[in-house]
Amino acid sequence: MRLAKLLATAGVASRRAAELIVRDGRVAVDGETVIDPAFDVAGAEGVSVDGRPLAVRVPRVVYAVNKPRGVVSTARDPQRRPTVVSLVGSSLRLYPVGRLDIDVTGLILLTNDGELAHALTHPSFEVPRTYRAVVARPPVREAALRALRSGVELEDGRTAPAQARRLAADTIELTIHEGRKRQVKRMCDAVGHPVRSLERIAFGPLRLGDLAPGAHRRLSAAEVRALRLSLARRSGRRGRDASSSGSRRPPAG
Ligand code: URA
Repeated sequence: MRLAKLLATAGVASRRAAELIVRDGRVAVDGETVIDPAFDVAGAEGVSVDGRPLAVRVPRVVYAVNKPRGVVSTARDPQRRPTVVSLVGSSLRLYPVGRLDIDVTGLILLTNDGELAHALTHPSFEVPRTYRAVVARPPVREAALRALRSGVELEDGRTAPAQARRLAADTIELTIHEGRKRQVKRMCDAVGHPVRSLERIAFGPLRLGDLAPGAHRRLSAAEVRALRLSLARRSGRRGRDASSSGSRRPPAG
């Protein structure tokens, strides 16, 4: 990040005023005075203004992105394919909350809040994820839906109970509480309906809504609170389950 931008983000001054502060020789990086406002810094560490270390409060942000097909859900890609992070283009260090396969579209969250990302993807919180799957070999019959609901046997173990309903002869809406690799595709395969296309339409309390493919929006403070609240409720429920059964459930997946 540019040095002047860092100072502005830290609340030292406006961007323009921060440039002057740097040019005036009042800013040091690792003990050396720097007078170039565009000097590249990784973060606040080692930066001082008038001899005082900079205390930066980097804002915690969460974005919802509608991932298009062909975009990878990692922060960086060695093969230089487009990433979900590049769709937002923030100067903050964002990373995706969990993963979607490259051919899967829909809602993915990005954040610079490591603790929140960790909790949202930790199997023990069982955050619900809802997918819309268009499948082969229609029509999807009640027996297949029942199997999806009660759990199907996969090579890494039986899946937890899910919600499944038919939206059309070849379209299912499926809510799962685990985040195993290619889970929905493997579940649909297991009941005889390979997935043709898959879209995530909800993650925890958040819905994809009318966000266009490739578009993003920053979550409001109320939405982030709702995310945190859903985690707190889940951890409360887990605590009650554990004390009533006398044991803790092992993490899913
Ligand atoms: N299930 C899948 O099969 N793929 C995903 O990307 C997410 C869920």
